[in-house]
Amino acid sequence: MARLVVISNRVAVPKARGAAGAQGGLAGALNAALKKHNGIWFGWSGQECDSFTGDISMQTSDGVTTATVDLPHQDVEEYYNGYANATLWPLFHYRLDLTEYERTTAKGYERVNEQFAESVAPLIEKDDLVWVHDYHLMPLGDRLRQRGLKNRIGFFLHIPWPPTRLFVSLPYHERLVKTLLSYDLIGFQTEEWLDSFMHYCRKELGADVDEATGRIAYDGTETVARAYPIGVDFDHLMNQLDTGTARQAAQRLSSSTRHRTAMIGVDRLDYSKGLPERIDGIGRFFDRNPDAVRQLVYIQIAPPSREDVESYQQIRTVLEQKTGQINGARSEVDIVPIRYVNRGHSLAELCGFYRVSKIGLVTPLRDGMNLVAKEYVAVQDPDDPGVLVLSRFAGAAQQLDGAVMVNPHSPDDLAHAIETALDMPLAERKARWESMIGTVRDDNVHQWTERFTHDLERVPCP
Ligand code: G6P
Repeated sequence: MARLVVISNRVAVPKARGAAGAQGGLAGALNAALKKHNGIWFGWSGQECDSFTGDISMQTSDGVTTATVDLPHQDVEEYYNGYANATLWPLFHYRLDLTEYERTTAKGYERVNEQFAESVAPLIEKDDLVWVHDYHLMPLGDRLRQRGLKNRIGFFLHIPWPPTRLFVSLPYHERLVKTLLSYDLIGFQTEEWLDSFMHYCRKELGADVDEATGRIAYDGTETVARAYPIGVDFDHLMNQLDTGTARQAAQRLSSSTRHRTAMIGVDRLDYSKGLPERIDGIGRFFDRNPDAVRQLVYIQIAPPSREDVESYQQIRTVLEQKTGQINGARSEVDIVPIRYVNRGHSLAELCGFYRVSKIGLVTPLRDGMNLVAKEYVAVQDPDDPGVLVLSRFAGAAQQLDGAVMVNPHSPDDLAHAIETALDMPLAERKARWESMIGTVRDDNVHQWTERFTHDLERVPCP
């Protein structure tokens, strides 16, 4: 079996998978593949330094070797806070209103990709499979090719690919996509994002695109693009659910909610997650059902994220105001309708919380996949499962058809979905859950990494 080299912006060693890691989709997913392929995981250490040295810090923990580099403050500003999270992230989540176009940050993005290529290239051996992840590192494969690398190199995008008419607002969009075509295999979360990418390649580049096989021929290169929906580590979740930590978390939550039904949301504090819109929907539900404050309590776990980016600071303020307004208007001396928790929790604790929450709200305005939806389904009690309320704009909606689907922009739709979930008879809850658990269990993260690496080993190579 070929050795695997994974490259991503953030590197999470298994031991460090705690509070923050549990909420990030990418981090948890890759450890399994690396363990199996005896791999190396390269990326940013998360630390800042005075100037880029390229010094690599290597660590081996639980069978996975990580290799990380520090980045200077200016690089973090321009590449991570700037181009990745103030340009690509909003644009790819259809938020042109939040997208910044700055030449300096674009240059920082190019520079860091170049530095990453220079640092990681010496670690890559002849027959290694190289797997690059996410929007931070789209040009990396091309930079490695420029250094003469002939390995099979794959790329997986964890977030949506936007429709062509939005994507063309990005200056130098053609150049970015041409660099992507240096990869041998490109993976997307869903057919929808794949279709948008294929559409761009055909319409804007005039590439020869074969929808049936996913082959894209352009300017003498051939790339294959396919959908690989990411899954959860099902067995790991079951093990977490079986811990004292999970049981205690479940006990704490259910004893504190007393006779009220717990409804839960777990999201990084990100505008793509539709949090203010969700709170508006919950407010509408209480407007329509004023007595329900004695029947339902909403727990929102929202650890802060990307706090140096302005749009993230704004979303936090808005969310706090909206939560405060509803709690002010609807609380009684012994009852608060919304509990807003501004910090992360371990995966074991989350499993306990999900298990006792009879409604799971996952209502992003746009999301590549959303693993919280799958985690919620995974850990439900088969004899008394909760109801998943899911945005039709999450990639997960294409698989989890037993969820109550909502338009997250509509407060009435959200309020109605909460009413439906609260009133749902046990037989229907079971039928819906049974229609989802198979895909959550079987289309898991191991199967995802298997499918991608299997295809990467077989696609035509330069
Ligand atoms: C999303 C992205 C990941 C990212 C994660 C956490 O899931 O697709 O690439 O790691 O968010 O965001 P952060 O900026 O903290 O790495």
